[in-house]
Amino acid sequence: MKDTNRVMQSYGRCCASAAFFDDFYATFLASSPAVRDKFVKTDMVAQKQLLRAGILNLVMFARGMPDTKLQALGKSHSRAHLDIRPELYDLWIAALLKTIRQHDRQLEQLDLEAWQVVLNKGIDVIKSHY
Ligand code: HEM
Repeated sequence: MKDTNRVMQSYGRCCASAAFFDDFYATFLASSPAVRDKFVKTDMVAQKQLLRAGILNLVMFARGMPDTKLQALGKSHSRAHLDIRPELYDLWIAALLKTIRQHDRQLEQLDLEAWQVVLNKGIDVIKSHY
């Protein structure tokens, strides 16, 4: 099966799991004070919805959609705006993979590897705007 199909199916199972986004942010915020500091004033209920779409943007890009949405994310997260240092994306990926392992009950090793490929492809675009 193609990486992007594996990821779409796994993401569907994650989104069907009620606490997926709550657990992601709990893990991500716990991973570093540098991450927590960025979200002190954030409405986390809204943020969870934004991330739901944001992850879909990464998957759609890996499936061949143009990188327009990721360029916009790259600009909003760049030095001049949210100022998200490139190394923080490693924490983001680690938190997401951990949360996927907890919530996707049918996850196979190949799915996890597919997620890594798909996420890195889009995150490279976002980071390139830093
Ligand atoms: C805002 C997605 C990585 C911190 C947002 C938004 C989206 C998003 C869709 C709202 C729209 C926007 O501002 O452009 C993503 C995706 C990521 C990612 C898909 C991974 C590829 C990160 C990382 C951090 C971060 C690593 C580090 C702490 C923030 C902050 C906001 C934000 C602080 C603004 C929150 C507010 O409005 O108060 N992100 N993000 N993001 N993101 Fe990210």
